[in-house]
Amino acid sequence: MRNRILVTGGAGFLGSHLCDRLVHEGHDVICLDNLFTGNKKNIHHLIGNQRFEFIRHDIINPIYLERFEQRLISE
Ligand SMILES: NC(=O)c1ccc[n+]([C@@H]2O[C@H](COP(=O)([O-])OP(=O)(O)OC[C@H]3O[C@@H](n4cnc5c(N)ncnc54)[C@H](O)[C@@H]3O)[C@@H](O)[C@H]2O)c1
Repeated sequence: MRNRILVTGGAGFLGSHLCDRLVHEGHDVICLDNLFTGNKKNIHHLIGNQRFEFIRHDIINPIYLERFEQRLISE
């Protein structure tokens, strides 16, 4: 089953590996990170992949994502 998944802190050490794994499994991944301690180098290889999208944003502020399934937001 293919899901659209939001990974907060996705440009960090753990988050970038999680993004790798999820994209590799065929999911659509939105990586959100404010790059406070993370680095774009960690996700450089995923940029351009149709299943991957990076958003620079601080998660303490609300963000509205188009076509994001309600069940994922509420979990
Ligand atoms: N090679 C290695 O073994 C290695 C390398 C790096 C880190 N580590 C270890 O990994 C652990 C740290 O990894 P991690 O992935 O938890 O930390 P991290 O700092 O790498 O990742 C956290 C991510 O969250 C982001 N972030 C923080 N606040 C945010 C906010 N409000 N909004 C959006 N994004 C936000 C940061 O910019 C960062 O990208 C430590 O234990 C460290 O020692 C190991």
